Amino acid sequence: MTQNFDTRAVHLSNKEKKSFTSKVTPIYQTSAFKFTDLDDIEDFFNGKNDYLYTRVGNPNPDELGEAIAQLEGAPHGVATSSGLSAILAGILSVAKHGDHIVASKDIYGGTYELLANELPDFGIEVTFVDFTNQEEISKNIKSTTTLIYSESITNPLLRVEDLSALVTIAKNHNLYTMIDNTFATPYFCTPFEEGVDLVVHSATKYIGGHSDVTAGVLVGREDLIAKAKSKVVNLGSNLSPFEAWLACRGLKTLSVRMERHAKNAQALANALKENNAVQKVYYPENVSSKGNGAIVTIDITGRCNVADFFKSLDWVKIVPTLAGVETSVSYPLSTSHRAVPEASRKELGITEGLVRISVGIEDAADIIAAFEHALKESVLS
Ligand SMILES: Cc1ncc(COP(=O)(O)O)c(C=O)c1O
Repeated sequence: MTQNFDTRAVHLSNKEKKSFTSKVTPIYQTSAFKFTDLDDIEDFFNGKNDYLYTRVGNPNPDELGEAIAQLEGAPHGVATSSGLSAILAGILSVAKHGDHIVASKDIYGGTYELLANELPDFGIEVTFVDFTNQEEISKNIKSTTTLIYSESITNPLLRVEDLSALVTIAKNHNLYTMIDNTFATPYFCTPFEEGVDLVVHSATKYIGGHSDVTAGVLVGREDLIAKAKSKVVNLGSNLSPFEAWLACRGLKTLSVRMERHAKNAQALANALKENNAVQKVYYPENVSSKGNGAIVTIDITGRCNVADFFKSLDWVKIVPTLAGVETSVSYPLSTSHRAVPEASRKELGITEGLVRISVGIEDAADIIAAFEHALKESVLS
């Protein structure tokens, strides 16, 4: 049929496409996929066509979910709009109204808020427990408990979780385990291979790696990921194609970034341990033979003026996040752990002098010099 100008302008892309063999996956920046006829739509629902509508599925988030699953040694994965939505999808795949979760006390503040403030509205009860005491974990398991939740390296105090102990407790009580592996990344730690059922990432952090993406990924057992995927579709917490594409691009350099991040973090931790202006240095040991992660947390309470320390950081960025290629610092008390009740914060060691350092990939000597300068400028006489 011949068409007039206004119609041709709208349908400019209506000609059948050639397929191009681009080196990298293109961005499927489309909200929906087109069908040739009604049989073609039926074929989708019979599992013959891949895609229908981007909230339901799109090649870019699928590529990210599958890539992280493969790196974690898990059969399946799903990408979501953020780390928190991946956590929620994971939880809802194993817990429903009337169920109970045992969670570590020592977790990211945003996760604490989700578990403490939102899950009760879904009818899911959560008990926060000191996970350094395994008896306490077992003692708090009830007949309604379905899940044990923790982080492989905790935020911000960098405690390394004993995954095999958690898996054993869970198996003994017929429970699921879910681990946030954001700080460790699959480069240093693969909880699924240690028997954990669900592994979650804030891909906003090291997977994206450049502080320009907000995304989450959940990987794990096939049956659980199938359930989690349906939560993502029905709750509308899917990841956009462009964000997924950026996260996949970042993921390609995960190994080289993590290697440098960890080397620099170890050098900074060693230097700060020698510095009298620092009361305590938190940096894990024995995470993996490849290194111990890239976050160093320090406590300067009573030794330095905290406000002066932050003012003296020169080129180091103050940001309420972590894991970019640039070194940055955050102040858990007023940002990530603001919502954690004061008594719990005190008990955990989240003090007014606690500073979380996300060590970047710059020259290690420059990073050390920047922190030594800030400590010197802020030290209390
Ligand atoms: C360990 C950990 N898990 C989950 C999240 C939440 O991720 P997002 O901000 O992508 O929702 C964060 C955010 O800082 C985090 O540090």
